[in-house]
Amino acid sequence: MGALKLAVFASGTGSNLKALLDAIAAGRLDAEMRVVVSNKAEAGALQIARDRGVPACHLAPQPSESEAAYGQRMLATLQAYEVEFVALAGYLKKVPAAVVRAFKHRMLNIHPALLPSFGGKGMYGLRVHQAVLEYGCKVSGVTVHLVDEDYDTGPPVLQRCVPVEPDDTPEVLARRVLQVEHQVYAEALQLFAEDRVEVRGRNVIIKPRAK
Ligand code: GRF
Repeated sequence: MGALKLAVFASGTGSNLKALLDAIAAGRLDAEMRVVVSNKAEAGALQIARDRGVPACHLAPQPSESEAAYGQRMLATLQAYEVEFVALAGYLKKVPAAVVRAFKHRMLNIHPALLPSFGGKGMYGLRVHQAVLEYGCKVSGVTVHLVDEDYDTGPPVLQRCVPVEPDDTPEVLARRVLQVEHQVYAEALQLFAEDRVEVRGRNVIIKPRAK
């Protein structure tokens, strides 16, 4: 596929966005960050984009706008920036179905637990880590998955385990998981940049690197 023409969607602080920009700058991720999109005007992610000279776009549904119209507006923005691949990084709104369909197998999300556990609507931020600790899990982890039309249900591309320590609080566990997120998201995207991903139903096959 060559350098991925990438958009990141983020609603929050944008530490994953920052890690991706750092991976691009370090040559670990063969991608061009074309635009950062947020539904929140005050998102830290938009500020990170501006600071790094990346176009930052606040895109939120208007009060009376249908999902279809909002989706068309989102698609027009992605086309305008010639985006070929989308990475959701703490994007808390559902992506309109038309956009998910247009980017089938070209849209990833990162989730701070091992799906299908501790995912779904409303499972974000510290709630995820709180639930992991309440269940008494000994491991948690990170899942990078393809996006389908529901929350956190698309096929996993990469998963990595993170240990849960006896005295963990949700905040401490979140920090440990986030460090791994920052490595694994760039790794997953690089597999697509190298055209090493084949999707067979729910199984995402990682092909060996070409010699
Ligand atoms: C991350 O934990 C990610 O897994 C989840 O939202 C959080 C975003 O954090 N989807 P940040 O804005 O990238 O710091």
